[in-house]
Amino acid sequence: MNNSIKVFAPATVANVVCGYDVLGFAVNAPGDEVIMKVKDTKGIFISKITGDDGKLPLNPEKNTVSASVQHYLNHIGHPDFGIDIELHKKMPIGSGLGSSSASTVAGLFAINTLFNNILTAKELVPFAMKGEELACGYGHADNVAPALMGGFVLIRSYEPLDIISLPFPEDLHAAIVYPEVDVPTKDARQMIRSKVLLKDAVIQWGNVAGLVSGLFMKDYELIGRSMTDVLVEPTRAILIPDFYVLRQLALNAGAIGFGISGSGPSVFALTRNADEAHKITEQLQNHLKKMAINSLSFVSEVNKKGPIIID
Ligand code: HSE
Repeated sequence: MNNSIKVFAPATVANVVCGYDVLGFAVNAPGDEVIMKVKDTKGIFISKITGDDGKLPLNPEKNTVSASVQHYLNHIGHPDFGIDIELHKKMPIGSGLGSSSASTVAGLFAINTLFNNILTAKELVPFAMKGEELACGYGHADNVAPALMGGFVLIRSYEPLDIISLPFPEDLHAAIVYPEVDVPTKDARQMIRSKVLLKDAVIQWGNVAGLVSGLFMKDYELIGRSMTDVLVEPTRAILIPDFYVLRQLALNAGAIGFGISGSGPSVFALTRNADEAHKITEQLQNHLKKMAINSLSFVSEVNKKGPIIID
């Protein structure tokens, strides 16, 4: 058994517009890093967190990384040594890019690797969901499942958990822009209506089925016209400065589809290649700059690997 390991886990785009809590994909960057070390004193410790501006708790019971590692050890059995965790945040918190998920998944992948991969990536998902529960009050899997498994993922059912890896066109890219405004996932979840009209549900499940079919058929037009959300986006769009202007700019610049990443405020477009994605992020960032809003951008293929060991 190794005594120390460093792991990177990727950011994710949850919902993919129409699939609230059931669809998500991973990107190559950004992501978070966890260094995990075996120590003599029993227990789980967080010795260091960087890149969080002091926002994240060092208390192991309150931190999503250590709390999910604790759940993992409760399941497989506690070792007669301790675990020390360093978390290095390399992505913005509360950005809608699965920030807590990337940290949690890096920690779970690290502990599972130290224990010779007793569980598969898919089997780790329920433990990562415990971290999401701690972070935002509900253990949704549409960030943690793609972060753990890589690729595009469908959560067909939560009870029982049924997770499906979906195929996707090789050339598919994501153009992501994070406007630096604060949108905590917990608040963004509370603002959504809990009841929906049947006529809206019909539109929504048509689009989810259309998007999944488009991914299977590698049909960009079908993917694009299925990236429509009548349930969640109309409410959350108000949290994002000039959301509908940003969408029009992205679509005019050739985006296949456009929407909110997870609970926002990041927005994303799917494109057919990296050049189009760069053109889109530039236009969106220019528009935000005119409104005096700072932003970050990321362009990535769909991540196929999930977490990786980097040391
Ligand atoms: N499905 C979750 C939500 C993703 O939209 O609240 C959070 O990143």
